[in-house]
Amino acid sequence: MRRKESLEVTEAEIAVHWQEEDYLYPSSQFIAQANMTDNGIYERFGLEYFPECYKEYADLLTWYQYWTTTLDTSDAPCWKWFVGGKINACYNCLDRHLAKYRNKAAIIYVPEPEEEPHVALTYQELYVRVNEVAAILRDFGGLKAGDRVTLHMPMVLELPITMLACARLGVIHSEVYGGFSGAACGKRIADSGSRVLITIDGYYRSGKLLDHKEKADAALKVAQESGQTIDKVLIWRRYPGKYVSETPIVDGRDHFMEDLLKDYAGEKVEPVSMPAEDPLFLMYTSGTTGTPKGCQHSTGGYLAYAAGTSKYVQDIHPEDVYWCMADIGWITGHSYIVYGPLSLGATSVMYEGVPTYPDAGRAWRIAERLGVNIFHTAPTTIRMLRKVGPDEPKKYNYHFKHMTTVGEPIEPQVWKWYYQVVGKGEAVIVDTWWQTETGGFLCSTMPAMQRMKPGSAGPAMPGIHPVIYDEEGNEIPAGAGKAGNICIQNPWPGAFQTIWGDRERYVSQYYEKYCKNKDSKDWRDWPYFTSDAAMQGQDGYYRILGRVDDVINVAGHRLGTKELESSCLIVTEVAEASVVPLADELRGRAPDVYVSLRPGYQPSKELEDAIVKAIETTIGKIARPKHVYIVPDMPKTRSGKIMRRVLAAISNKKDIGDVTTLANADIVEEIRKIVQGE
Ligand code: PRX
Repeated sequence: MRRKESLEVTEAEIAVHWQEEDYLYPSSQFIAQANMTDNGIYERFGLEYFPECYKEYADLLTWYQYWTTTLDTSDAPCWKWFVGGKINACYNCLDRHLAKYRNKAAIIYVPEPEEEPHVALTYQELYVRVNEVAAILRDFGGLKAGDRVTLHMPMVLELPITMLACARLGVIHSEVYGGFSGAACGKRIADSGSRVLITIDGYYRSGKLLDHKEKADAALKVAQESGQTIDKVLIWRRYPGKYVSETPIVDGRDHFMEDLLKDYAGEKVEPVSMPAEDPLFLMYTSGTTGTPKGCQHSTGGYLAYAAGTSKYVQDIHPEDVYWCMADIGWITGHSYIVYGPLSLGATSVMYEGVPTYPDAGRAWRIAERLGVNIFHTAPTTIRMLRKVGPDEPKKYNYHFKHMTTVGEPIEPQVWKWYYQVVGKGEAVIVDTWWQTETGGFLCSTMPAMQRMKPGSAGPAMPGIHPVIYDEEGNEIPAGAGKAGNICIQNPWPGAFQTIWGDRERYVSQYYEKYCKNKDSKDWRDWPYFTSDAAMQGQDGYYRILGRVDDVINVAGHRLGTKELESSCLIVTEVAEASVVPLADELRGRAPDVYVSLRPGYQPSKELEDAIVKAIETTIGKIARPKHVYIVPDMPKTRSGKIMRRVLAAISNKKDIGDVTTLANADIVEEIRKIVQGE
């Protein structure tokens, strides 16, 4: 097996040196009300009961027709769950709750400007609005089950409304994170083959009303260059009746949703009874190569897994007020703002803007005002909230029973602040480890059943059976004190089905590395390779150390180094580019960019700015590098490969190690001086 150029060293080193922490225990009040306190669940989900055990999750949903085969492995490793089953995701999130919860808030929307009122949308109202939009998509958009539609929407109420309208029709939605650039959106439009783009004119971020519609025009241009035409752009407006974008409307192509809604007021659309294994949505994510991968998630399996994990790990009851402060443009928002909570009839809070706008108390004011009792966010946000307002939570009268951390390893001292100050020592914490590809949690404590250990994601979820392999495929046992590649031995219903349009890449990236027999139809031969390094303690808890591939986890969001590097190459002066992760106090990791120039060009501040700009326009501001270093040459192996590891060590002021085998060892010291000074 090929040994990867070890970028993971920097990630792993940091986490491995965390000391073992003491355990903390959930309170008796929490345990008394928890959805899951039955230890038998681990036995019921043991491998000997696999795959039938997952009926327990699927039974949380309402099916038009039960499945005939729980897990079909005939097209291994493209697993099919609940085959023969018929279901509709929108029906499960809305219609079936009406009898009991018609007048209960489904979503409470909090706009960023504090003077704008909250909007509490009841299940009834959400149902009506989703139906109207579904009618527009079907009758005006010409969309039907199996078609793809791209959404490029920020955190506005119309986003979950549009997603659910798609789900009602069996239309596959592909939501692109609103912060991504138009060009990044265009690539995803082209890859998914969407003919309709749904967007909004503007939205608030840090007190500014951003022009979002301008990105649609850039997106269409990039999509067109890749051969994909968008026929219709459907535009929501942040303020009905008022167009807040500077971008002109293109006649015949651009349509305001508000205008269309006049013709569809009160329309009802029957939910389409979908085969369980048909796709519900695509979610693009970064991988090892430049192009983003469209992770294809199923309808029945995904929803069952999102519902099950929301119920047992998030401990959501219909009477709770649950706030996940993620963006719906990422998988966390899909599973744990929209599909999971709504399938359980919960009240899900959604916030438009920046957690610290206009000041460090904002998040806690929202929590107090709405009576939030379950809170869900990422370490990067926790670090930021702690930095700007370490004592702020004490000033507000809210009480969380439960808090989640997700997306990156959390440092024990940050965990403790979250526990003691944000949670006021009352809330249980779950550290949930999972990925865009996995649909839902892979590792987490069951909050009422297991003790917490700061810095550890806890044991595997019921029904998830991890194994840690070394590079040679030997198992690393629990308590060995050694990290390795964490894999999952068995399929599970939330797992993505394939990479949209690229089965080969799906197989090679996720299932080839430790495959025991490529012709096998037995799932036991196909461990799922997560690309994360991890170690398992004697207590069975997993500590996730970070990515082993060329992915940088910036503020809990995945960026491919190749994506960043190819953005730099847009600047004509740039000959070569290399991007490495820099440990960052707030964002966890930030990209550090190294470039060398083509002959005849000189380094300049303008050039550095042009490179930053290129990254922002092709990917988005989220990818903005911490530094751009223009260097005379890159450190290279004799075969010409750029040694990222060396650059990463220089950026992070770590031991550079032995570089004598490099083709141009002298350059290392030169670069070090540029970065670190004499
Ligand atoms: O490295 C792991 C890290 O985030 C990666 C997945 O990123 P993404 O697909 O964007 O999904 C983020 C939301 C699930 C993983 O490969 N990661 C995620 N959760 C944790 C984590 N690292 C440590 N601890 C976690 N709880």
